Amino acid sequence: MTTAIKENIAADDMDRANFYDVDAIRDDFPSMSLEVNGHPLVFLDSGASAQKPVQVLQRMDRAYREEYANVHRGAYKLSELATENYENARATVAQFMNAGSPDEIVFTRNATAAINLVAATYGREFLGEGDEIILSQMEHHANIVPWQMLRDEKGIVIKVAPIDDDGNLLIDAFAELFGPKTKLVAITHTSNVLGTVTPIKEIAALAHANGALVLFDGAQGIVHAGIDVQDVDADFYVFTGHKLYGPTGIGVLYGKQELLKKMPPYQGGGDMIELVTIEKTTYREPPARFEAGTPPIIEAVGLAAAIDYVTAIGQDAIAAHEGGLLAYATQRLSEIDGLTVFGRARQKCGIVSFTIDGVHPHDIGTIIDSRGVAIRAGHHCAQPLMERFGIAATARASFGMYNKKEDVDKLVDSLLYAKEIFS
Ligand code: ALA
Repeated sequence: MTTAIKENIAADDMDRANFYDVDAIRDDFPSMSLEVNGHPLVFLDSGASAQKPVQVLQRMDRAYREEYANVHRGAYKLSELATENYENARATVAQFMNAGSPDEIVFTRNATAAINLVAATYGREFLGEGDEIILSQMEHHANIVPWQMLRDEKGIVIKVAPIDDDGNLLIDAFAELFGPKTKLVAITHTSNVLGTVTPIKEIAALAHANGALVLFDGAQGIVHAGIDVQDVDADFYVFTGHKLYGPTGIGVLYGKQELLKKMPPYQGGGDMIELVTIEKTTYREPPARFEAGTPPIIEAVGLAAAIDYVTAIGQDAIAAHEGGLLAYATQRLSEIDGLTVFGRARQKCGIVSFTIDGVHPHDIGTIIDSRGVAIRAGHHCAQPLMERFGIAATARASFGMYNKKEDVDKLVDSLLYAKEIFS
């Protein structure tokens, strides 16, 4: 399992950028040859959603054209084939995360839906008035709002672990938040704004030593760092397909089998039941219990194809490449007067947030888009984190496996252009 995440930004790290044949990878991604606003696209927003390789697109196309039917229902060949594809995708995900069994993998709509599922089932059933959960200051709204909704319904208490000015989780302060009523820690594996990679093994060990469960939001983390849920001893781990070079509309909830088994259903409907009478319903075992209605059949096939693609290139190789780009970008951005980088954590992945004095982040985004450079600007669905730094928004460049050093150069050139407009 990959651990090739930046410890420190050292000069020789920059040599890792382009260390593999990035042009060969780019050839697999049709969007890498797009032109936007008369310029070749420089896509630096993979943190929001990654582009898709042709291997994923073709696999989904074939599944729709030649292997399509509903799953778990038909007593005919095509439905059996679709069911086999769907369940094989579950097995691919399980193997990718090193889950103990495919039965620990629940397909959801995205990472947000997976967190909501845990809050609405585990949370409603097992958390009550006065029980405490711990989040961090760098959570995405998806890992805040479902817990607030549960707080408003059940009277749970939310505590928040602080970070330092570089974006490192303050582990001692985090440890002090535990008490006899702490039931759950819900923390990001990787900040979507700061790029901080959190010490998930240490977090899980602390949670368990204090009798609490732990849920990791892996929407960014699994992409950049990979995950071995058994090694980390995660109780729940969620991620989404579209950031991992797969399709939208599919996410994953990993949950330990003994936990999923004792959780009540989430949504009711077809496929999650054993027996329905007008008086009552009995439910299937997980994961079926949590997959009401027609599931994301082709999206699962696409996600499995994306995982196969990522695995073939190697997550270590991708992480090293992105680490090199991060080091190079951090150095090049430091050449711009008035530019402040937010997030200099000891362990960091390929995400760089910044502001430029005198230029609003949205203006930065719009101006550099006119040069074909796509980044995200705003609060990045992390308003409490913005508040922590006393800002309203940042510009954010995030790297994917297909980015290259030249993309960083174009980013820097276009930022200098934006600065000049506002000078
Ligand atoms: N959570 C996604 C992002 O960080 C959308 O941009």
